[in-house]
Amino acid sequence: MTSELAGSQIIIEIVYLIASALFIFSLKWMSSPTTARHGIWAGEVGMLLAIGGTLLRYGIVDYRLIAIALVLGTIIGIPLGRVQMTAVPQRTALSHAFGALCVTLVGSAEFYLRSPDISRFMMSVLSIEVILGGLTVTGSLMAAGKLQEILPQRPLTYKGQNFVNFLLLAVAVAIAVFLVLHPGTRSLFPFMILIALAFGVLLIIPIGGADMPTVISLLNGYAGLSAAAMGFVLDSKLLIIAGALDGSSGLILSIIMSKAMNRSFTNVLFGAFGQVQAAAAAGEEARPVRSATAEEAAAILSAANKVIIVPGYGMAVAQAQHKVRELYDALTKRGVEVRFAIHPVAGRMPGHMNVLLAEADIPYDRLVEMDEINGDFPQTDVALVIGANDVTNPAARTDAASPIYGMPILDVDKAHTVMVIKRSMNPGFAGIDNPLYYLDNNLMLFGDAKVFVGSIVRELSGGHG
Ligand code: TAP
Repeated sequence: MTSELAGSQIIIEIVYLIASALFIFSLKWMSSPTTARHGIWAGEVGMLLAIGGTLLRYGIVDYRLIAIALVLGTIIGIPLGRVQMTAVPQRTALSHAFGALCVTLVGSAEFYLRSPDISRFMMSVLSIEVILGGLTVTGSLMAAGKLQEILPQRPLTYKGQNFVNFLLLAVAVAIAVFLVLHPGTRSLFPFMILIALAFGVLLIIPIGGADMPTVISLLNGYAGLSAAAMGFVLDSKLLIIAGALDGSSGLILSIIMSKAMNRSFTNVLFGAFGQVQAAAAAGEEARPVRSATAEEAAAILSAANKVIIVPGYGMAVAQAQHKVRELYDALTKRGVEVRFAIHPVAGRMPGHMNVLLAEADIPYDRLVEMDEINGDFPQTDVALVIGANDVTNPAARTDAASPIYGMPILDVDKAHTVMVIKRSMNPGFAGIDNPLYYLDNNLMLFGDAKVFVGSIVRELSGGHG
């Protein structure tokens, strides 16, 4: 290597080191709403440096194909970055599919370039890379399709399904083992990929739409691990670090989400959850509930000392966060103590409520996590639930037959008065009835969250809001 080449290699390594450090800081900062914006910046700058450093590599002899790929990626990326907040889970799934496709293609290219001179270690890592990559491509596309409702949300199951799936995976692993021992058997390689692709589809088919966000997190983990494996194949420390960070954070997030729903991984992956919910919802009968007007709600709220607002998916759908901010201002001005209770799986993606409330500039110190605030509900005058349903369902505490039994919930029913803004008596994501609505201390405020909160604000400001 000439001294010029050695010099540029050192620069690349330094750029990669800075990028890796930025990725680590990015994850650290994104774990708190106060530093999350810095986290996004750190991640973006890190990725820019990683791409820049890679473009400096001396092995690149022609930049034309790279330029075409950059233009194509930008054309696809810009509209993906502009989707509605409620469509972010399926958008994320698409990103995983693209990442995993890249990993699988690079892995295949490396195999055919190197075979038969591949060490056992390298062939093992290559196999992990393409099996995880392949199943993540189709699995993520299926998950995105289910969330976008292009594909049926309900779980499609048949007898012996899990056995067939395991058998398929076992065949892919057997081919991988054979290739490790005989890396010159080039004709077997495509079968390993095809089986991984088929496994991705079959793995997702029996999982209901309700579990897709958790599954996407898990696929995030697989995509990260396959990228880390690619790092070994390409001898790139940056890819190993970024892939390991991505893989472990995806897996940790899916564990947190499963815990928040009181579900085990096996239950999420093999439980066909959506089917149970649909059956439970169909069996419910109509029961009387008490409802109130915006004027009555405003009177109750202004007479309160302590109010806890519980936002949920409906607030996101209605884009009511700015009206909620106005309500927060109006009540605070009257001396009412207002806090927000954040359930870890409220909405449709991790941190969904934090992001929306931050967008409306609601002070971070007013947002309180479930474990911290749950003990305060009995001393709270009003719990105002805005478009949340499952995360407030007391059946999770009391009804062992409920599909969400054991899921930790916000104990809004323990407040002196509960008021729930939603449009109808329709169930939430889990598809089950909510006994909260029939309690004596509960009032239903029927209407769109943005419109209803706006009406309450108007009432509070004497009709001039
Ligand atoms: P949900 O239980 O889905 O309830 C949302 C409620 O919002 C619905 O009952 C709906 O009732 C109401 N709504 C919809 N549009 C509205 C509008 N424009 N105005 C007013 N209300 C509206 O939401 P949640 O309580 O936030 O619970 C989240 C659910 O998603 C949980 O089951 C959770 O397990 C699941 N989940 C979440 C995640 C993450 S990471 N957040 C991941 C996986 C699963 P109406 O139709 O009557 O208005």
